[in-house]
Amino acid sequence: MPDNAKPRRMTRPLKAAVVGSGGISQEHLSFLSGKTVVAGDVSDRVKLAAVCDLSPAAAKYGATKFGAEASYTDMTKMLEQASPDVVHILTPPQSHVALVTEALASGAHVICEKPITPTSEELRKLQAVADEYDRHLLESHNYRFNSGVVAIKEMIDDGDLGDVREVEIRVTLPVTDPGGRFGDPNMPSPIHKMPAGVIHDFTTHLSYLMLHLTGDATFTKVGASWNNHSESPIFRYDNLDAIMIGSSATGPVHGRLRFESDAAPDGFTIVVRGTRGYAETDLFQPYLRAVIPRTGGGQLSPIANHIANGLELVKSGVTNVGKKIMQKGPYHGLHQMLDDTYAALVDGNEMPVTPQQMLRASMLVDQLLAEESRV
Ligand SMILES: NC(=O)c1ccc[n+]([C@@H]2O[C@H](COP(=O)([O-])OP(=O)(O)OC[C@H]3O[C@@H](n4cnc5c(N)ncnc54)[C@H](O)[C@@H]3O)[C@@H](O)[C@H]2O)c1
Repeated sequence: MPDNAKPRRMTRPLKAAVVGSGGISQEHLSFLSGKTVVAGDVSDRVKLAAVCDLSPAAAKYGATKFGAEASYTDMTKMLEQASPDVVHILTPPQSHVALVTEALASGAHVICEKPITPTSEELRKLQAVADEYDRHLLESHNYRFNSGVVAIKEMIDDGDLGDVREVEIRVTLPVTDPGGRFGDPNMPSPIHKMPAGVIHDFTTHLSYLMLHLTGDATFTKVGASWNNHSESPIFRYDNLDAIMIGSSATGPVHGRLRFESDAAPDGFTIVVRGTRGYAETDLFQPYLRAVIPRTGGGQLSPIANHIANGLELVKSGVTNVGKKIMQKGPYHGLHQMLDDTYAALVDGNEMPVTPQQMLRASMLVDQLLAEESRV
């Protein structure tokens, strides 16, 4: 550790600070203020000390609404005065490397929104900085912690689906809509400058979910078609169709990743097919459906399966309504990830998203973008 690095200080509750008080900060800040949808009161583990944004109005709004002691427009000043134990970097991706490096050097652990860096090479350098200062660095892999994904992963681990043979992950979002976050030609989002353009905002999610659900498969053949169907000049790509073929510890695995902006309805669907059955969920309209054929019974078996599948659909519908009533929106996994992260920091356990998982997801994004993968 460098001589000027601050010594470890880990007194409960940990002091947290947020940098970037825009869209996604609402979820981080509501967790930090204790209004979390999954964890109840977290005030014995973490206390929100400060909110920083280049915009004084945004910084003040975040601090006032979520009960932080102070607001700042300059992260350097905030690190000096508030001395946070944990810094959440929630700014546009291009700013992550500089801000994360400075926060780590101040002696804080860092939770950074995805994509933490544009490439795995830059991620390795950032992870080396975290190691140098003996700090944790965690990228948001939040959808891994959504209840639908957790349930499917449990089915896989329990052998209910048999050996996983295929995983399809599909995001449908109208990103080219001129009224949306990315489509305004007069105020293009900084994400357009990332290697995968706007789709880079989603590639981390696609990659870590693919690895998580295939049991960390290695994909030896990857074909990725990156398209700009809208032909909008501000978009690099608005559509991705990728197939990937490889293997995991349990045999061959096929992966399919789709991002589309000109279909409906909005969705984030995941289908995992195994040698015994399949399971599917949608992270935007949560439901969970597993189809695992009953064996035996000769002629009766198709009828029994039909009835069982019908009951599964009804159950999915009820779960969907239940989730809506419970206000467990698409970001409940983010709250769960933060809860697990603070529990691990306080108890000194392994982070719920490990450096290896971050690196593998980033390398898969590189592989999807590599010239030799293009079709
Ligand atoms: N995990 C998820 O599911 C999820 C969802 C949405 C966004 N994100 C990610 O979160 C990040 C932020 O996205 P957003 O939609 O909240 O963006 P946003 O544009 O709504 O907010 C970003 C904020 O950061 C501020 N900012 C920029 N540079 C700064 C700096 N140097 N110091 C302090 N403040 C600074 C801006 O003023 C702005 O208020 C992106 O990396 C995005 O991909 C993740």
